[in-house]
Amino acid sequence: MKKDLIRIQDLTPDEIFHIFELTDQAKQYAGRFGDFLKRKNVGLIFQKPSNRTRVSFEVGIFQLGGNCIYLGPEEINLGVRESTADVSKTLSRYLDAIVARTHLHQDIVDLTQNANIPIINGLSDIYHPCQGLTDIYSIKEKFENFQEITVAYIGDGNNVCHSLLIGCSKIGININIATPKGYEADEKIISLSKANAQQSGSKISVGYSPEVAVKNVEVIYSDVWVSMGQETDSDKRIGDFQGYQVNQDLVKLAKKNYCFMHCLPAHRGLEVTADVIDSPNSIVFDQAENRLHTQKSILVFLFEHLNQIEEE
Ligand code: CP
Ligand code: NVA
Repeated sequence: MKKDLIRIQDLTPDEIFHIFELTDQAKQYAGRFGDFLKRKNVGLIFQKPSNRTRVSFEVGIFQLGGNCIYLGPEEINLGVRESTADVSKTLSRYLDAIVARTHLHQDIVDLTQNANIPIINGLSDIYHPCQGLTDIYSIKEKFENFQEITVAYIGDGNNVCHSLLIGCSKIGININIATPKGYEADEKIISLSKANAQQSGSKISVGYSPEVAVKNVEVIYSDVWVSMGQETDSDKRIGDFQGYQVNQDLVKLAKKNYCFMHCLPAHRGLEVTADVIDSPNSIVFDQAENRLHTQKSILVFLFEHLNQIEEE
């Protein structure tokens, strides 16, 4: 069976740590995996805009000797021009892997179920696993004692929140979440993460108070209040998220040497103030850089698996 990366929940902790070992190697030396993807073609189906995900995948695939084909919404209008299943079956005949950024998570699932090549979720409405893996790699990189620290996620219970929650709970990082009422993380994903935590030893706390969530934590994480596709609700959302800004008053409650994290893009003056995101505590550009190294290692991990199947 081919392997895909649809959600972090599908990886074992050993697989996550294996990806991190590969990431360390990729980060130490960009040429570490040589032409691992030589003569391989990777399609990037993007139904939404992207800076980090698109560019870091394109650069990473080039560094691995592979070729990228970017397919924006004008080329592949999933489910409109033709069914997602037909897109997937057709592209499986040309390509060796697909990275897909879609509006609906179900489109990623449909692509996966109809393809015989690896599919990587480059963000859906429910998950952002490449971001989540990069985030927990970045935390592990900054904190040797990563299984003793606590991350506070403040804001929308969205795709980034879900992947962070699953990632932390899989490998033993404690996580507190504070969202406004009506913007909570998905209940099923909270349950999954609580079950993971029983195995890993993570502590998970879900509530509404940013002040309670950040008290004495090592990491504060924030994401936009208005995700891609929610623009028509901007005014309402910005109103509802008042009180959830990561600012100097809030970060004072965390440990003195706390790290600020954000998946980016960020909106200074909304979910975070400039004096926090641009402070020495902020590691947002280390996170952005780590997308490149982590995604190269995800590709190596998925193709290592395919190579093993071919050898058997
Ligand atoms: N963090 C992230 O996925 O950024 P982009 O939307 O720019 O790809
Ligand atoms: N939650 C944001 C993340 C962007 C990387 C969105 O979905 O737009």
